[in-house]
Amino acid sequence: MKRTKIKNALNSEQSMAEITVKGWVRTKRDSKGFSFIELNDGSCLKNIQVIVDHTPEIEAELAKIGTGASVAVEGELVESPGKGQKWEVRGKALKLLGEADQETFPLQKKRHTDEFLRGIAHLRPRTNKFGAMFRIRSELAQAIHKYFAERGFFYVHTPVLTGSDCEGAGEMFRVTALEHGSKTPIEEDFFGKPAHLTVSGQLEAEMFALSLGDVYTFGPTFRAENSNTPRHVAEFWMVEPEMAFADLNDDMDLGEDMVKYLVQHILDNCADDVELFAKWVNKDLMPELDTLLKKDFVRLPYTEAIDILTKTKKEFEYPVEWGIDLQTEHERFLCEEKFKQPIYVYDYPKSIKPFYMRVNDDDRTVAAMDCLVPRIGEIIGGSQREERMDVLLSRMREMNLPEEEYWWYIDSRKFGTAPHAGFGLGFERMLMLVTGVSNIRDAMPFPRTPKHLEF
Ligand code: 4AD
Ligand code: MG
Repeated sequence: MKRTKIKNALNSEQSMAEITVKGWVRTKRDSKGFSFIELNDGSCLKNIQVIVDHTPEIEAELAKIGTGASVAVEGELVESPGKGQKWEVRGKALKLLGEADQETFPLQKKRHTDEFLRGIAHLRPRTNKFGAMFRIRSELAQAIHKYFAERGFFYVHTPVLTGSDCEGAGEMFRVTALEHGSKTPIEEDFFGKPAHLTVSGQLEAEMFALSLGDVYTFGPTFRAENSNTPRHVAEFWMVEPEMAFADLNDDMDLGEDMVKYLVQHILDNCADDVELFAKWVNKDLMPELDTLLKKDFVRLPYTEAIDILTKTKKEFEYPVEWGIDLQTEHERFLCEEKFKQPIYVYDYPKSIKPFYMRVNDDDRTVAAMDCLVPRIGEIIGGSQREERMDVLLSRMREMNLPEEEYWWYIDSRKFGTAPHAGFGLGFERMLMLVTGVSNIRDAMPFPRTPKHLEF
């Protein structure tokens, strides 16, 4: 018989004379003459309670079944006399599908530390917390596509293998088909030139915005920055919209609207899973999300941000002066202590930003923006792009970028250039925002960080 997902069984409108459920045993409790099994199949946070009578066949199976085992149950869906659930399954037949050795199965205890669970990333989605996390992650990804589809943005698949460094920060993973330590010249390597994993799909997305209008890319990006922080991973997903005929204000409007839409979508569609986080992981989650939804994001020019930071009594590890890149401690001070809500900082010094950002009339700043949120810091980085070919070329020369490698990018300014803007939203940081977790490693199914490539 076809299995019914536990989520559908629990939401059933009526009892069912026949039902098959399959899942993993969370707990088993034996009484005189019958046993209770709490069964979870990952379809939702809740378990379904299964009750089986001790017939000889069932007892033989029960003897082999412990926490973590996978089982199939055939029986009836009946109203539960117990508290806390509407339905339960009266099992008529019970079959062990996969045993879990009780001596070695690592998820015996009810609560484990996040750190312990990171060491068993292959099993942690079987816990309540990580089951909830990865259901929310799936919903969030779907919501991103929905958001853009509703607004007429086209989805572009930008390449993962690339020959250019978008951010110019040199934090790229090399790609080669040669043996490690090979002396073969690069000309004989697969591409005949240096190749990398992309750090951002932006440059390619720009080409499509300047053809299709509004586009976005959403895919994995890679950074070989050796920073072991709770906000960085070497492989993460980025959402990158790019809009033709748009400026920095349009860009900030889109980012704010999208973040609010995504938060609302998750609250509306993942209520049980979010509640787990609000109750057990971060007590401030709901008030934080509430503020985010209700208030307009503050929009603060970089120069004013520096002003605030130099005038406060608070001491920072990194000294503040005009021209510095804001550090996490500065970002968090601004949105957690000063404004207590999400903010945009915009118009950053051009000396600390990549070549593609549009130079402002003051010639010292560029039309860049970062969206900063409490607890996390930067979740969005974006800009209006430099559409004027002469300015772009002089910026590239200033920064010693090889023009011949960017010939295609320069072409877009040569032929029908137009104002355009876009941003990158860190998908895992967005997940941290909606779940309240404080470590990005807990928002990624199999996180990659320096010296960690276990799974
Ligand atoms: O600010 P970033 O570096 O911007 C870009 O790459 C632009 N090319 C995007 C664009 O305009 N299309 O990265 C964008 C966002 C950051 O705000 C952050 O949320 C996330 O990507 N991010 C990371 N997330 C996890 N681990 C890392 N190592 C990250 N680096 C950036
Ligand atoms: Mg950034």
